[in-house]
Amino acid sequence: MELYDGPAPSTPEELKRRLSGKRALICLLTDPITADVLDAGSDLEVVANIAVGYDNIDVAHAKGRGIVVTNTPDVLTEAVAELTWGLILAAARRIGEGERLVRRGEWKGWALDFMLGMELKGKQLGVVGRGRIGQAVAARAPAFGMHAVFAARQGRAPAADELSFDELLVSSDVISLHVPQNASTHHLFNRRTFARMKRSALLVNTARGPIVDEEALGWALGERLIAGAALDVYEREPQLHASLLNLENIVLTPHLGSATRDTRTAMADLAVRNVLAVLAGGGAITPV
Ligand code: GLV
Repeated sequence: MELYDGPAPSTPEELKRRLSGKRALICLLTDPITADVLDAGSDLEVVANIAVGYDNIDVAHAKGRGIVVTNTPDVLTEAVAELTWGLILAAARRIGEGERLVRRGEWKGWALDFMLGMELKGKQLGVVGRGRIGQAVAARAPAFGMHAVFAARQGRAPAADELSFDELLVSSDVISLHVPQNASTHHLFNRRTFARMKRSALLVNTARGPIVDEEALGWALGERLIAGAALDVYEREPQLHASLLNLENIVLTPHLGSATRDTRTAMADLAVRNVLAVLAGGGAITPV
């Protein structure tokens, strides 16, 4: 067994060097597990990602090589849903903006019309992605008096609580993203979609950065085409589009969705159990 505990994410070269002779790899979403990296592990039987998303892994290549890929669903659902609600509240009530103002010493005192935000009660939450996390986010909506709708899934008749993607765009007060990153969700939110949203609407992304075109989001927020946004994930982490940094109407957190002690422990534990199950000759617990 070999442990990489460098301060920064491992590089492909580092991974390749260390994979020789290994039967299993436990990796993070910051590790690029490309075809090249996989091929450096000629004895590799299982790649266990400590994340529910697995866009960092060339899964098709792994499958072609007979390597099992696993992720960590379920154990992080509640943590991500909780952070999502933290961001919805922060964006709606301008919490980050208010905090910055207080710290700068610019607060002049209570005023009737000072820093007014959006009340959530009675508003529509549009959830894009009906997986575990999307459902957990929607389940918390009634606690805030919000009505949740989901974007209808492609190729299926919409359920009673589903709207077409365009209907959801034009009618939602808050839109929260919970789809995986892939070719069909890349830049799903772009200049055209922002122009369809309500001018009073908020966009929240705790899924994957590339689902939102950051340059287009900066433009939409700057032009006040939408009222605000909150991002936990970015197109090129840890970098973000420069236009976002100077905007007051956006809340920015550093990819903290699953970052609770309980959840990160459960994720690591599940990854280890996946590896042990595969190496023992049984099936993986949570294969992708
Ligand atoms: C975190 O972003 C994850 O995919 O687990």
